[in-house]
Amino acid sequence: MPKPPVPLSGSVCVPCRLAAIGAVVAVLAGGFAYTAGWLSPARLTTSRIVNTFQAAAGQPHPGYRRNHAKGLCVEGHFDSNGDGAVLSSAAVFAPGRTPVTGRFAIPGGNPSAPDTSTPVRSLALLFQLPNGEQWRTGMNSTPVFAVHTPEQFYQQLLAAKPDPATGKPDPVKLKAFYAANPETQPFQAWVKGHSPSSSLANGAYYGINAFLFTDRAGNTRAVRWAMVPDTPYAPITDAQKAARNYLAADLNQRLDSGPLRWHLILTVAQPGDPIGDATLQWPDDRQHIDAGTLVLEHTTSQEDGTCRDVNFDPTVLPSGIKPSDDPLLAARSAAYAVSYQRRTREEALNPALHRTQANGDHS
Ligand code: HEM
Repeated sequence: MPKPPVPLSGSVCVPCRLAAIGAVVAVLAGGFAYTAGWLSPARLTTSRIVNTFQAAAGQPHPGYRRNHAKGLCVEGHFDSNGDGAVLSSAAVFAPGRTPVTGRFAIPGGNPSAPDTSTPVRSLALLFQLPNGEQWRTGMNSTPVFAVHTPEQFYQQLLAAKPDPATGKPDPVKLKAFYAANPETQPFQAWVKGHSPSSSLANGAYYGINAFLFTDRAGNTRAVRWAMVPDTPYAPITDAQKAARNYLAADLNQRLDSGPLRWHLILTVAQPGDPIGDATLQWPDDRQHIDAGTLVLEHTTSQEDGTCRDVNFDPTVLPSGIKPSDDPLLAARSAAYAVSYQRRTREEALNPALHRTQANGDHS
């Protein structure tokens, strides 16, 4: 014979129930406190990384990205030739056209920094696929990154923090960081051997991190990508080295004469190539596939243009592309989200913010 159900009310004492509820609340509060880093001030959290970007930028720049703050939006499309489909089933590699929203920028948290404050330039892209998926990528003009792990990246940010007395990083601290982190060698050597391009239009942009491409038959390979310009490379001129703002004006001038083009080059890893380490390049003889042409047509201001409210999180990927186990990718995704949350909140709380900034007042 089935047992009668045990009555719930009255079977557990009231203080015991309150204690159980209290325990659940305490566990949840502890979880939040741990995630926020309050329980372990020495633990590296995403907020601490983003706070360090902010501190390096000096005064606050509300509404702007916490890194790569100086930039402009671009619009265009990607014409796929179909050749990328041998590596990935992503719809973007089928023959045809995909609309693209992008953003050129330079690293650093100050939207008024001189263009010469860094040798690195960046191009971020959002491909809007016909099936509703998106492919977002943030690329730099160097084929390797300086560091391998988020912890090293944080240490690098601390070492490069401008000295309040000079406004520049302390060379002793930087030297000590590089000496303690020999993984930075390939990046330093590359920057030393390559003058920055004279224009945003004539430089290559590299995805740097490896991703996993899966084709229609289910084969998965590690791939890196780069956008290689049709416009021939020319090094930065002496006049440009002395100028504060020339990159955006130069780009707009070139676009006035017609669209600018880059080829999307996919590079396939061989067994044994480092997949999860963005400080190491793969050998030159790896298979390269030209998957099509990126065509950029016009720019808009980053203060009220199409890219303003985009988070170019590199882990937003279409079916057929997945992140690799590179530890920088998860750190990037988390940091871009915190930066995005802060800047969009600032805009929401102060709608007049970008109206004044679009007029040039973003000091
Ligand atoms: C392979 C390494 C990396 C590359 C190629 C890269 C590239 C980029 C690019 C292109 C942007 C500008 C995006 C835009 O125009 O909206 C950007 C922004 C940013 N990056 Fe990175 N980055 C790398 C690593 C990191 C790491 C390790 C962190 C921190 C953990 C980081 C933090 C940020 C933040 C906070 C922003 C601003 C995001 C926003 O507000 O939208 N990046 N990065």
